[in-house]
Amino acid sequence: YSELKPFPADFLWGASTSAYQVEGAWNEDGKGPSVIDARREYPEGTTDFKVASDHYHRYKEDIAMFAEIGLKSYRFSIAWTRIIPDGSGEINPAGIDFYHRLIDEILSHGIVPIVTMYHFDLPQALQEKGGWYNRETVDAFARYADVLFDEYGSKVKYWLTINEQNLMILQGAALGTLDEKLVNQKKNLYQQNHNMLVAQAKVMNSLHNKIPGAKIGPAPNIAVIYPATSKPEDILAAFNYNAIRNWLYLDMAARGEYNTLAWRYMEEKGYAPEILPGDMDILRSGKPDFIAFNYYTTQAVEASRGDGTDEVIRGGNKLLKSGEDGVHRGAANDHLPRTQFGTEIDPVGFRNTLREIYDRYHLPLLITENGLGAFDKLDENGEINDDYRIDYLRRHLEQMQLAITDGVEVFGYTPWSALDLISTHQGCSKRYGLIYVNRDEFDLKDLKRIRKLSSYWYADVIKNNAL
Ligand code: BG6
Repeated sequence: YSELKPFPADFLWGASTSAYQVEGAWNEDGKGPSVIDARREYPEGTTDFKVASDHYHRYKEDIAMFAEIGLKSYRFSIAWTRIIPDGSGEINPAGIDFYHRLIDEILSHGIVPIVTMYHFDLPQALQEKGGWYNRETVDAFARYADVLFDEYGSKVKYWLTINEQNLMILQGAALGTLDEKLVNQKKNLYQQNHNMLVAQAKVMNSLHNKIPGAKIGPAPNIAVIYPATSKPEDILAAFNYNAIRNWLYLDMAARGEYNTLAWRYMEEKGYAPEILPGDMDILRSGKPDFIAFNYYTTQAVEASRGDGTDEVIRGGNKLLKSGEDGVHRGAANDHLPRTQFGTEIDPVGFRNTLREIYDRYHLPLLITENGLGAFDKLDENGEINDDYRIDYLRRHLEQMQLAITDGVEVFGYTPWSALDLISTHQGCSKRYGLIYVNRDEFDLKDLKRIRKLSSYWYADVIKNNAL
């Protein structure tokens, strides 16, 4: 381009966290246990989520620091188990009160709150009754949503339904959605998926009815799938995996229909969910105002060999590539460098993903996560020189600006994460924050907050509304 389009004037520059990864206070003030609290095993050498970054007690200090950086928005999640401890029973006034105080604090600094309603932390009491497989969870979620809208609807304009629903289905074993005892696990997962989609449509409708002008959207993890080569069979595999990994979720959220390829895949494999009478009407009626998505990287695939060897590649203990007989086979992308944790880094893939989503749905886009996990070190001067994170963020923002110049409508960017927190898969040594939290896996130290170099760089980007 001879000239780049500027970022929109009211662009929601922000940063992101989720409740269980940052709050701690896992059993305080009437909070019920979630599936995260009930989790017993952690990868060797990594901590649990009991104290996390102690944000529950230090939120004022944290939000003051977000304001110092100049954040215009803050994306966080509400813990369902603070609001309704067992998911469907009594409402917990102390939980309601905490999020009022948190939201008021955010607003008092002129920061726009963006609320995720559910970020992996299903109430354990619901899980014990079958979790999302049980249709009662749909009603429980709709009721929980109504409580949130009634309480906070006058203060919060932007709502996100379910964080990374697609990864909860695709990586059920890692994210606690999979019931190991079941024989046909995938069929169970795709029924959970259907039920979540119905729940999502219901709450999008409910917000629109209750709070005119409020906005709501899904927040999956989208990674466009590349064919490993120009071989037509590899392209076919990429179409297959794009349908199963990405479009199944967004076609339903945005168009109210099952993606054709994904539906045929589920039928063929015996995973197709049961659709109750009335479900399709609900699904068609739910209309998002925008699409939010988390972007970390793209994925490459090649044709399945169909011989049972389509491999599974793990980075650390995270599933990076997976294959499925007759559908696709995961492939490494040799054109891309990797993070210390093995995740491929693909800034141009970010532009590709933005273009692809906008082209399909023509809805405004919000990037709810993007970021670099690294072993940051506090140096002898008490500083954290994370220039590699600056490089990562800058390269992604350059591509985002190119996408905006391409004509893609983007209205906000909330990278992962506002401050250091406990990684979903790899403890607290895998740090993503703009702000350092002084603790180790098992030594809580003083939990002091220290701005990393990246936070100063990001502050300039926000101030100038330019790179
Ligand atoms: C997303 C999640 O999957 O990626 C976050 O929404 C998570 O909860 C983030 O922390 C990074 O993944 P990880 O495993 O490195 O923490």
